[in-house]
Amino acid sequence: MSTTVKLAIIYYSATGNIAQIAQEMAAAAWKADAEVRLRKVAELAPQEAIDANPAWAANHAATADVAVATADDLIWADAVIFGSPTRFGNISSQLKQFLDTLGGVWQQGLLADKVYSGFTSTGTQHGGHESTLLALSNTFHHFGGIVVAPGYTHPDKFADGNPYGTSHCDAGGTAPVGDTTRAAARIQAERVVRFARAISAAPVLV
Ligand SMILES: Cc1cc2nc3c(=O)[nH]c(=O)nc-3n(C[C@H](O)[C@H](O)[C@H](O)COP(=O)(O)O)c2cc1C
Repeated sequence: MSTTVKLAIIYYSATGNIAQIAQEMAAAAWKADAEVRLRKVAELAPQEAIDANPAWAANHAATADVAVATADDLIWADAVIFGSPTRFGNISSQLKQFLDTLGGVWQQGLLADKVYSGFTSTGTQHGGHESTLLALSNTFHHFGGIVVAPGYTHPDKFADGNPYGTSHCDAGGTAPVGDTTRAAARIQAERVVRFARAISAAPVLV
C-alpha cells in the first residue's frame, strides 16, 4: 500500500553544509514518493556578520529562494527532519529560536504523534555530533514525537558511523559534504518516510 507521506525538512545552515545535506534528504524523500517541504529557519545574525564570511554569504545567496519555516509546516507534516550545525556542542540559536515559537501549537497538541529525526554538521571529529543530535531530540520528546533514528540499519551506516542521525565533519571548513554523508542522508530520509508511511497507514490507537 502506498500512502503519500508529507515530510518537512527544516534546517539552519550558515556556511552551507547543512543546506546540502537537507537538499540530499529532500531529493531522496521525493524519490521515495513523499511530498516534501524544504524550509530554512530565519537568520538572526546581522548582515555584516554574514558578509564578513565568504562561505556564509555564498550560502545565504544560494538559498535565498528557500522558504522560511513556519509552524504550519509542522502541523502539515507527518514527519519532520530538523538540521542544525553544532554550536558549542548544541543546536544553533537560529533553530532554537524557531523551536521556541512553537509553544502555542504544542499546547494544542498539534506537534504530537509525528515522526521526528535530526542531522548535524561539525567542524571537528569530536566536536559535538552526538551531543547536538541528542540535544535536538530533547525537543522531540516534549512534542510527543516518534523519534526515528537511523541506527546501524544499513551497511553504509558503518561508514558514516553515527546512529543518532546523519552528521558531517567539515574539518574547519575544508571538507565539503561528500559521498559518505550523502549516503547517510539518503538512508535517514528514506527510513523516516518508510516509518511515517507505516504509522499513517495504521489504525489510530487511542
Ligand atoms: C559559534 C560557532 C560554534 C561552533 N561550535 C562548534 C563545536 O562546538 N564543535 C564543532 O565541531 N564545530 C563547531 N562549529 C563549527 C560548525 O558547527 C561547522 O562548521 C558546521 O559544519 C557548519 O555547518 P553549516 O555549514 O551548515 O553552517 C562552530 C561554529 C560556530 C560559528
